[in-house]
Amino acid sequence: MVLFVTCHYIKSEVGVMELVEGTKIFNEEELKEAAQLLASGRLVAFPTETVYGLGGNALDTDAVKEIFKAKGRPADNPLIVHIARKKDINNLVKGEISKLAQRLIDKFWPGPLTLILPKAEEIPDITTGELKTVAVRMPSHPVALELIKDAQVPIAAPSANLSGRPSPTLAQHVIKDLAGRIAGIVDAGQTGIGIESTVLDLSQNIPTVLRPGGITYEELTEVIDGVRIDPAVKAKLERGSVKAISPGMKYKHYAPKADVILVEGKSTDVIYKIKQLMDLEDETKVGIMITSEASGYYKDEEVIIKVMGSRSNLKEVSSNIFKLLREFDQEGVNKIFVEGLPLTGLGLAIMNRLRKSAGYQIVEV
Ligand code: TXA
Ligand code: MG
Repeated sequence: MVLFVTCHYIKSEVGVMELVEGTKIFNEEELKEAAQLLASGRLVAFPTETVYGLGGNALDTDAVKEIFKAKGRPADNPLIVHIARKKDINNLVKGEISKLAQRLIDKFWPGPLTLILPKAEEIPDITTGELKTVAVRMPSHPVALELIKDAQVPIAAPSANLSGRPSPTLAQHVIKDLAGRIAGIVDAGQTGIGIESTVLDLSQNIPTVLRPGGITYEELTEVIDGVRIDPAVKAKLERGSVKAISPGMKYKHYAPKADVILVEGKSTDVIYKIKQLMDLEDETKVGIMITSEASGYYKDEEVIIKVMGSRSNLKEVSSNIFKLLREFDQEGVNKIFVEGLPLTGLGLAIMNRLRKSAGYQIVEV
């Protein structure tokens, strides 16, 4: 297999992490070294087509314990197990793979779809947060596939951020959050989709989207009937459904240090509302995260402006949002107003993440 992926491998000892100089073509030897670390129970972060993952041997209780510790993740939040060949799912789930599951695997793997199925005995309970089900995914990133293949074990990998922070889309984000806590990072530049996989629960009677992500609801409905979005997830996306909570009590997920306020409604109304809200701030350093269509309206404003991408290219938007939220932190911004988007296609996953980043501080116009 020829892989033209820019890939430098960053080694880290406790407290020290250095970037190997220069940019190399995908280096098989270094990747083997990283795989060796994984196989021996150490933690290595690696790129997937969605976000960087923090990998460890899914069958090794101690390695999985280390994952939870490195991230500061609550023990009851289960991990996704990553495989490099479709057939490897058979070792992870109990019983036969249903026709429904097989249809989804044939259509969407490798890719950003995670399937929840009854778990095989061999998987330690710690990996699945004591649940009787397991989340399985086959990523499509060539570096991830090669690394998992070389490690020869299934790889548990949550997003490689500290719990509560935006997911990492660059190796630098992983360094910022996890340097000194993990054995290494495989760096292959920016990840493509930029938000995580869709999590689809097939262990219930009705296939249920627990987390919207890289594969859209519309794409799923083209392949299987009767799929629904988890009512709790859906409710939180409906207009008027969530009350703003006070900033001090902010819900921490995908959250930058700054206070995020999401402004939703008709795009022209949103533009003017954001202007109005910005103008009310005088003591704070303000940033705005908007679409390219809206950017012309803010030309003369004295705020930090970041463009997420175009309304007509939501893939561009999804690839940028976590990176931009982290940039605002770097620049010392303490309040960010964000333009809301429609809930169709990738918009559903994008708005799910943005609403969480905002701790549900939402202004509707
Ligand atoms: O794109 C992705 O999925 C990335 C990359 C690295 O693959 N991974 C990722 O992992 O986002 P994490 O741990 O940040 O999110 C996993 C999600 C969590 O919401 C978790 O609760 C859910 O999947 N999950 C995992 N196992 C589950 C299970 N057995 N039942 C229900 N939900 C589960
Ligand atoms: Mg995560």
